[in-house]
Amino acid sequence: MTYNFKPSIQTASFGPSVWLEFSPLSIKYKSINLGQGFPNFEPPEFVKKAMIETIEKGGFNQYTRSPGHLRLVNALSKVYSPYFNREINPLTEIMTSVGASEALFATIMSVVNPGDEVILIEPFFDIYMGAIAMAGGIPKYVSLKEKERDNNSSATRSSKDWVINTDELENAFSDKTKLLILNNPHNPVGKVYSKQELQEIANVVKKHPNCTVISDEVYEWMIFDDNEHFRFATLPDMFERTVTIGSAGKTFSITGWKVGWCIGPDNIIKAIANTHQYIPFSVPTPTQEAVAIAFEDKNIKDYFKELSQMYQAKRDLLVNSLRDAGLDPVVPEGTYFIMGDTSSINLQGSQGKDTSITGMGLNLRDWNVSRWLTTEIGVTTIPPSAFYSDENAKLAENFVRFTFCKDDDSLKKAGEQLLNIKSKLNN
Ligand SMILES: Cc1ncc(COP(=O)(O)O)c(C=O)c1O
Repeated sequence: MTYNFKPSIQTASFGPSVWLEFSPLSIKYKSINLGQGFPNFEPPEFVKKAMIETIEKGGFNQYTRSPGHLRLVNALSKVYSPYFNREINPLTEIMTSVGASEALFATIMSVVNPGDEVILIEPFFDIYMGAIAMAGGIPKYVSLKEKERDNNSSATRSSKDWVINTDELENAFSDKTKLLILNNPHNPVGKVYSKQELQEIANVVKKHPNCTVISDEVYEWMIFDDNEHFRFATLPDMFERTVTIGSAGKTFSITGWKVGWCIGPDNIIKAIANTHQYIPFSVPTPTQEAVAIAFEDKNIKDYFKELSQMYQAKRDLLVNSLRDAGLDPVVPEGTYFIMGDTSSINLQGSQGKDTSITGMGLNLRDWNVSRWLTTEIGVTTIPPSAFYSDENAKLAENFVRFTFCKDDDSLKKAGEQLLNIKSKLNN
């Protein structure tokens, strides 16, 4: 009998993701990659030293406690308890994970039954969709929409003006709603939800006794200007139903170490930890030990402030370059992403299509503009329609997402190259 391979029903619809188009395209055309959100600079010395110390000391080379290496859950409890206005029990209210990605997967698998509905706020980080599909959940979409703008206005465009309509949110709920996924600060818009906006969401959630909330806060330490990061779990009655997710990759510029965590009430964390036993069982011990040492650093609070300051300066650098290049930026309040408006770029014929590696997104304007920017201008971006449902992909067509988690030389060079847009289009 011949062997006949068929992928599982849960995964058969998965194709290559947006990263498999733009990372190889960037390598092929030797462009400056402002696409994927990973720093191209070294992590801080105290973080590198923590890992060196861990390896040299020895004793951290075997499996560790499945729900989280003791030193790390203790360090996380110490760091986070003041921000949650409560004492977080390190043994029952925290679980560590293989990056925030696995925390998301384990949580979604632990909460969602086949046929349950999950509310996603568009645009949304694309990884949520995979886990929802594997759990058999049904996504329901509510879009963040930019408030009407006066076209003649020279006012700064801000992520503050991207808002959810509360009626739309209410209407997205049904008696099948099991989960709402919030991402704050928000990738890719850069929005930092105000306390009032979060309270309005909480007011809707409260009407639904079966609805758990994931608050994905991996960009929590990248907050600019006078904005403040509020944690959804700290709103009245919300801790008991909220899983807050964080990432050492984002916090310490070590995305390759893949250490994340979730914080929540003991009954939900217990369910997630039970699931996690059957995914990685445990997270690599040396990386957890080193991340714990980093969090124990006596200057950790100053480090968090410095991280925001460093990224704010990089944001300003890129915002100015995008303005100079005619790509009106939506100035982010947080994260390390900026949406740039590409309405001024009019591609003709096969421009932006014929260089595709995967054949994806040939009919989507933002994909073609992103490819054209990579191949003709030498700057790679990400098409934000990858963060929308198919039916709403058009909402993103005039934008591309830039990241500024890159060294200043790369950002400056990218800025210079973006100035070539006008002359390239006129050729
Ligand atoms: C919103 C969001 N959540 C989660 C993650 C994944 O984090 P990690 O690298 O820790 O798995 C990312 C990474 O880009 C992200 O943007």
